[in-house]
Amino acid sequence: MNIQDPTAESRKNDHIELAFQSQVNAKEVDNRFYYEPMLSAHPKGIQPVSFLGKTLSAPIWVSSMTGGTQMAKKINHNLAKACAEFGMGMGLGSCRALLDSNDYLEDFNVRSIIGDNLPLYANIGIAQLNQLLENNKLFQINDLLDKLSADGIFIHVNPLQEWLQPEGDAISEKPLDSIKELIDKYPNINIIVKEVGQGMGKASLEALMQLPIQAIEFAANGGTNFSKLELLRNTEATQEHYMLLSKIGHTANDMVEMVNEIKANSAPNQFLCDNFIISGGIKNFLDGYYLIQKINATAVYGQASMMLKYAAVSYEALQEFLTLEIDGLALAEAYLKIRK
Ligand SMILES: Cc1cc2nc3c(=O)[nH]c(=O)nc-3n(C[C@H](O)[C@H](O)[C@H](O)COP(=O)(O)O)c2cc1C
Repeated sequence: MNIQDPTAESRKNDHIELAFQSQVNAKEVDNRFYYEPMLSAHPKGIQPVSFLGKTLSAPIWVSSMTGGTQMAKKINHNLAKACAEFGMGMGLGSCRALLDSNDYLEDFNVRSIIGDNLPLYANIGIAQLNQLLENNKLFQINDLLDKLSADGIFIHVNPLQEWLQPEGDAISEKPLDSIKELIDKYPNINIIVKEVGQGMGKASLEALMQLPIQAIEFAANGGTNFSKLELLRNTEATQEHYMLLSKIGHTANDMVEMVNEIKANSAPNQFLCDNFIISGGIKNFLDGYYLIQKINATAVYGQASMMLKYAAVSYEALQEFLTLEIDGLALAEAYLKIRK
């Protein structure tokens, strides 16, 4: 027995036993990357990133999820704790319930958990923004941000979801106009605009990039899709007729390519918004790393359902998931270059 390598015999036995299970079909090889084993030692961690005026230890965003139930409180608190531990940014789920009342404040009130040094954004829908504008109550957004000590607000723009939701709200104005009005009236509010699982096309993206907003979150199609979710809550007839709408939209990869095309065909510095949260169907660190590298802009990647999956179980489950993901990102940074 070699005293330098006491596990050698059992390891060699494992190799013989597992070799036949370890065949990879050439068709399964992930050809999004060049793998470059010559150029780096094993990584010691990942690079911090500057995003929305704060420093993240990992280029990961916890995408907006829910509030207003006992379960949501536990989930939000677990997510905020993970943001603090792993240095990520966080978007809250729709805070509509907090506009007029503090009944559910504790579900969302996570600033003391996440700390002051990481981005935390509140969230309302475009239909609520319409109502606040119509009723001259925009000040409620400032009140909301104060209550939550939030850095700013997400406006989710979700016309298909609202249309397909049995109790959905009407969107009474063109979303771009409502957002411009908010910017005109409250230029100091930090705004991020997102969809809820459909993504958006080139003309919408380009219009948003021209606004002085903090960021655009894709919420692309290919992951959680709120049109589909609302259809599943709707009548059978509605489902039958409209399920095809859930397949409309844009994937995160499609949207990265659109942003690059928009920028390639425009004068430099034409855009006031050049920050993106790439989300919608990002299943793992390789998807996230690939798209962050591919986009010619400042970006992090966002996940909702993957975070939910672990946060709903326990903090330890979420911690294990994120440790593995962030170590995976470190390996990717060290050894993978994307094929553009
Ligand atoms: C349980 C759940 C609740 C959500 N609630 C909101 C919400 O309140 N407001 C919002 O803007 N987006 C909400 N979303 C949408 C996600 O922020 C968005 O679709 C994002 O792209 C992440 O999707 P993913 O699950 O594919 O990672 C929710 C997603 C999930 C899974």
